[in-house]
Amino acid sequence: MNHFELHGGELFCEDVSLSALAEAVGTPVYVYSTATLERHYAVLRDALVAEGIRGEHGGDPLLAFAVKANSNVAVLKTLAKLGAGADTVSEGEIRRALAAGVPPEKIVFSGVGKTADEIAFALKVGVSEINVESEPEMELASRVARSLGARALVAIRVNPDVSAGGHAKISTGKADNKFGVSLSEAERLYAKAANDAGLKPVGVTCHIGSQITDLAPMAEAFAKMRGLVERLRGEGLAVERLDLGGGLGVPYFNQPTPPTPADYARMIARTMGGLDVAYSFEPGRMIAANAGVLLARVLHVHERPEGRKFAVLDAAMNDLIRPAMYDAYHEIVAVKPRPGAPVVYDVVGPICETGDTFTRERALSPLEAGDLVAFLSAGAYGAVMSSEYNSRLLAPEVLVKGADYAVIRPRPTYEDMLAKEATAPWL
Ligand code: LLP
Repeated sequence: MNHFELHGGELFCEDVSLSALAEAVGTPVYVYSTATLERHYAVLRDALVAEGIRGEHGGDPLLAFAVKANSNVAVLKTLAKLGAGADTVSEGEIRRALAAGVPPEKIVFSGVGKTADEIAFALKVGVSEINVESEPEMELASRVARSLGARALVAIRVNPDVSAGGHAKISTGKADNKFGVSLSEAERLYAKAANDAGLKPVGVTCHIGSQITDLAPMAEAFAKMRGLVERLRGEGLAVERLDLGGGLGVPYFNQPTPPTPADYARMIARTMGGLDVAYSFEPGRMIAANAGVLLARVLHVHERPEGRKFAVLDAAMNDLIRPAMYDAYHEIVAVKPRPGAPVVYDVVGPICETGDTFTRERALSPLEAGDLVAFLSAGAYGAVMSSEYNSRLLAPEVLVKGADYAVIRPRPTYEDMLAKEATAPWL
């Protein structure tokens, strides 16, 4: 459920009219709903708690929001106020989480290629754990920690070798993906870390992919993780934490209905069979995707002689790259739907390549130049993946709460864009 609904024939975000907002802020613009962010966080937490999935000291499990999905500091702050942590993959993301007030002990540092400087930064600010993905990376964490006179709390990222389905570009849990180590390697590395003066192994972690709409591969992976925890404990090693990653899919409308958070929590309770460990999760998409839309204006509607109709928008693939990159489906709705039979359009942006096509042959309510449309489910992996390709200004971001809204990333000016570059002395 989300808070983008038609009121009196017009799309609203909570109590804010999207046409009024577009008038005030301009388009393209990302718009997020506070109530939806809060709701998704609470629904997931409550589902896990209801199934007895606990965190440290028997409290709520740590929901470390995957900052990569939406890294706007105001969005992170909204979640931090509810108790969310942050799953980060770069120093930049750690800095954003800290700027949002996420306590360092709720920040997890993941990613396959952390630099020594990034690890040092993470240790200095005191992140909760470093999820190491390979032996060389673990050795680097140890060297950096020892040079700082510290001990790095590490979790070993396991690649459980399961196929999670979904798009190949976002599947991470097969042995031929670059992520994590095998179960047997994890066992060896865990024991090695326990004997390393620079490291303290605190747990194990896995994440098998994103937009997963079938619980079976997750259950398969999680059962392997449970077995691993039991084997490690059997060897006398302490395993305090188990991080089960993110990946739960969301409805993009043309896909199989994903499992609910309650289904997900029940599967975990069943698979873990009472395993006593502090659980944490790294949800991104399921919290943010349906909490955001990208608003755009129709610049022209033109028809080719052979009858194909193009709706050309002022938003492009630089603003929302998911359709071009993953053939992703985003529902497109008119902000003020016009009466009349649906018309079939190719919806495209102004960028000079054919890939700048959001959808082909989609039946939409009739569109005219000047109309506003909203791309739904754009709150995750939307603004964060945008670029200035074609020297287009980054779309601003707006956060709505009830009848209020705030511009949480203003649209830059062309002067801002040019000021980021320098010339060479010989020019
Ligand atoms: N944890 C780790 C280690 C991850 O790599 C990811 C996502 C997550 C958590 C969060 O997964 P989520 O709950 O959001 O599925 N740009 C792509 C998605 C890439 C996901 C990468 N990793 C897209 O637009 O679909």
